[in-house]
Amino acid sequence: MGSRLFVRKPISVLKKELEGEHRLHRALGPLQLTSLGIGAIIGTGIFVLTGQAAHDKAGPSLMLSFVVAGMACVFAALCYAEFAAMVPVAGSAYTYAYATLGELPAWIIGWDLILEYAVGAAAVAHGWSHYFQDFIGIFGVELPRELRSAPFDYDPAIGELVSTGSVIDFPALLVTAAVTMMLLKGIRESATFNAVIVALKLAVVLFVIVVGAFHVNPDNWRPFAPFGFGGLSFFGHTIFGELGKGGEPLGMLAGAATIFFAYLGFDAVSTHAEEAKHPQRDLPIGIVVSLIICTVLYVAVAAILTGMVPYTELSIDAPVSDAFARVGLPWAQFIISLGAVAGITSVLLVLMNSQPRVLLAIARDGLLPRKFFGAVHPVFRTPWKSTLVTGFVVATLSSLLPLRILAELVNIGTLLAFLFVCAAVLVMRRAAPDTPRPFRVPLYPLTPILGIVICLLLMFSLPTENWLRLAIWLLLGFVIYFGYSRKHSAMTASQ
Ligand code: ALA
Repeated sequence: MGSRLFVRKPISVLKKELEGEHRLHRALGPLQLTSLGIGAIIGTGIFVLTGQAAHDKAGPSLMLSFVVAGMACVFAALCYAEFAAMVPVAGSAYTYAYATLGELPAWIIGWDLILEYAVGAAAVAHGWSHYFQDFIGIFGVELPRELRSAPFDYDPAIGELVSTGSVIDFPALLVTAAVTMMLLKGIRESATFNAVIVALKLAVVLFVIVVGAFHVNPDNWRPFAPFGFGGLSFFGHTIFGELGKGGEPLGMLAGAATIFFAYLGFDAVSTHAEEAKHPQRDLPIGIVVSLIICTVLYVAVAAILTGMVPYTELSIDAPVSDAFARVGLPWAQFIISLGAVAGITSVLLVLMNSQPRVLLAIARDGLLPRKFFGAVHPVFRTPWKSTLVTGFVVATLSSLLPLRILAELVNIGTLLAFLFVCAAVLVMRRAAPDTPRPFRVPLYPLTPILGIVICLLLMFSLPTENWLRLAIWLLLGFVIYFGYSRKHSAMTASQ
């Protein structure tokens, strides 16, 4: 039984499966792959969570938080790149894990990816809603109170859940429904469309940095770390740093654990392995370069925002545009809100496009019902049933649950997936030292070890209840695996 749980899907089988399907056109070079990564990364994290993280947890030291979270991602990304180059088939960490670690770890990663993609999309839809409301507000249009946000939120000032007076986040519901419709018909993120959105996003971010620099008041950076540099706690016991009223960790590290969300999406690059001209060289370039560019931009935006507005006064809904309105540049608010709405839409498209494909891959292996999750629409050639389920889940979560709770859950789940990927590199170097590796993580074994350590640090800098939520999520995953997947696994059946 033990060996069945760790049955591997040989790389030769993966390659054969690929031949049976339509080959995708190999058109993407390093520039397009990097731009794809940036398109998937810059969104709600930088445009919205920056405000919450600086206001509630880190103050101006948020600049350092971005460095720490960026480092966790760069280490994980390098490990990701080693796998992406070794198994260059369309897929994700799930496929790599199946080929290298075995079925159960692959299932856990696939199950975890639902947190990154579907729950992540719900959090991103919130950010869209905030900036959409900010944008229509410029023209004096306001939604009725009942339709503005999720019905409750967590208030860090009193450490309790509070009613928002709203019933549903209607714009979030609307945008997820619209994106689902588009994906059902099969919008392929064309490189040109993506390039335009990325150019727009980068222009807005550079605008924030350059114009904002003229409105920085260095006094706002003092004190630099009002909540300290820590934030580590072990199930409610402080190890390093302060705890807030609700028992949540505070400080620079706690800020890093929150804005880790801003970096998610770089792995979307690896799902385009089949469309890359030279996947073994260009995938690592696309993944790592897009991350490095985003890290530099994020640190700069954090410095500008906390320099423009005292951290205690930063808006938690639309902090970037609000900062410009405060310094007397309302026209800038127009540009930023519009750029944020467009930019966040592209992140939503990528995340909601990735989820059904992961479900499809899992269903093809028999670990989820093939008939349902593997169904491809006869006309549109899209995984329509998985897309509909994804849309339904994202719409429900985004319209009813608050951003903070969603983002934290996404973060802990994705940190665990990254930790697995880093560990997988260590395991594979021992288990299969001779498999060709066109890209090898530099400074082995330091890089994967540091990746694991920083991911763990960040997991312990999130509020404790997230561990409980993660445990419940994994338990549910185990129930499905042992109740269904193991019995229906195509690999086990073929043995
Ligand atoms: N990194 C993506 C965002 O911040 C998920 O929206």
